Amino acid sequence: MPEFKTVRGMRDFLPEETRMMKYIENKARSVAESFGYQEIMTPIVESYELLATKAGEEVRLRMFAFKDLGGRMVALRPEFTPSIARVVATTLKNEPKPLRLFSVGSLYRYDEPQRGRYREFWQSDFELVGSSRPEADAEVLMVTARLMERVGLKDYIFKVGHVGVLRGVLIDEGLNEKAQNAVLQLMDKKQYEDSLVRLKDSGASEKCLTVSRGLIGLRGSNISETVEKMKTCVDGYEKAVAAVEDLKEILKLVVDSGCKITVNVEAGFARGLEYYTGMIFEVYVPQLDVALTGGGRYDKLVELFGGQPTPAVGVANGVDRMMLAMQEQKVTLKGTAEKKVIVISAGDETKSEALRISHLLKDAGITVELEVMGRKMGKALEDADRRKLDYAVIVGKKEFDEGKIVLKDLKRRKQTTVRIEELQETLKS
Ligand code: HAM
Repeated sequence: MPEFKTVRGMRDFLPEETRMMKYIENKARSVAESFGYQEIMTPIVESYELLATKAGEEVRLRMFAFKDLGGRMVALRPEFTPSIARVVATTLKNEPKPLRLFSVGSLYRYDEPQRGRYREFWQSDFELVGSSRPEADAEVLMVTARLMERVGLKDYIFKVGHVGVLRGVLIDEGLNEKAQNAVLQLMDKKQYEDSLVRLKDSGASEKCLTVSRGLIGLRGSNISETVEKMKTCVDGYEKAVAAVEDLKEILKLVVDSGCKITVNVEAGFARGLEYYTGMIFEVYVPQLDVALTGGGRYDKLVELFGGQPTPAVGVANGVDRMMLAMQEQKVTLKGTAEKKVIVISAGDETKSEALRISHLLKDAGITVELEVMGRKMGKALEDADRRKLDYAVIVGKKEFDEGKIVLKDLKRRKQTTVRIEELQETLKS
C-alpha cells in the first residue's frame, strides 16, 4: 500500500490545535448567545447555482464543484452566507424580523495553499437579517470586536469601506452591474490601475475617473476627517453621497457606544464577493498579512433567492486564521487548565475497583483516564509523567479493603493515602 497523506490543502488537526480551534469556536458561540444570535446548521453540499450566484469570480472559480450520482450540479460550500440567505428566503420566510443567525463549520475553496490559506477552513458566521438601519451594521462590527477581545487578541485593526460609494458613482455613470463588478474585482485585488483602465473602457467620464482615482488613494484612521474627504470627493453623485452618510452614521454609532476599536477607513476598499451593497469590512492583525474576518451588508441576496426584499448584514471570522494570530501573539487559553488524573490498578484483582473509582471521579466532574495497557506500576507512572498528568490514583488490594487508595501528586512528587469517600473533595481542592 502507498503511504497515504492528506490531500493537498487539507490538514489534520492534532489535539493541541483542535483544542485551540474548539476554544475559538466556543468563544464565538458564547458571543453569539450574548447578542441573541441563534445557531443553525446547513448542509456542506449545496446546489452549485445557489453558491455561484453573486459569489464573485474569485470564489466561483475555486469551488469544489461536481455532479452527484443523481446528475445534480453541486458544490462544497465556500461560505455560509448563501445557505443562510436560502433558509431565510424559504423555511424562515414568515418569521418575524430581525433574525439573528449564527453558524460555525468547515468551508471549502480551491485556494493556493499557503500560510493562513487552506482548501478546508473554518468560519464562525453571524448574520443579522431584516434591518437596513445603521445600528444593525454597527452591531455586526461590535460582535466582531467582542469576539476578537474574548479570544484574547490584541492590536487588531478594522478596515472599513462602503461599496455603495463607488457603485453609486458607477451607477450614475450608467455602468451596468457586470461592468461595476469587473471594476470592483480588480480593486479587491489591488490592481487599481487596471481598474481605472477598465472604467475608461466601459465609457466612464473623465470626472468619474478623477473621482475613482481620488477614492482609491483615500484612507485614514481619523474617521470623521476621512469620511468628510470622501463626501467632498464624490460631490455631485447623489447615491455615493448617501452611502458616505450611511458609513458615517454606522461608525459614529460604534464610536459613541464606547467600543474601542481601531478603524482604518478606506474609500477604495472592495471585497471579492459580489453580493455586498453597503458597508464592508475586514479585520487584520500586524502579525498576519491575510484578513482574520470579512463581512458587510447585502440587501438583495434574500430577494434574489426568491424571498421578500430583506436587508441583511453579517460577518464571517476565519477560525484557522484567528488561531494563527493567537499563536503569533502567544495568547494563552483561559479556563482550560483542568487537572488530569489517571487511575491505575495495582494488580489484576483490583481492576473493577479501579473502574468504579474512575466513574466516581467522573461523576464529580474530574477529568480521569484509566490505565488500560496492563503496564507494571513503574512504567505506568513513567508514562503518566511523560504525558504531563497531574495525579495518579493507585488502587491496591490492601488499601482498598480498608476503604482507601494511594494518591500520588505527580508534579510535586508527593504521595498520601486518602479515604475513598474523601477522594473527590481532595482532588477538587
Ligand atoms: P470572506 O472574506 O470570503 O467572507 O471570508 C471570511 C473569512 O474566512 C476570511 O477573512 C478568512 O479569515 C477566512 N477564509 C477565507 N478563505 C480562507 C482560506 N482559503 N483559508 C483560510 N481561511 C479563509 C465570507 O466568507 C462572507 N460570507 C462573509 C460574510 C458573512 N459577509 C456577510 N456575511
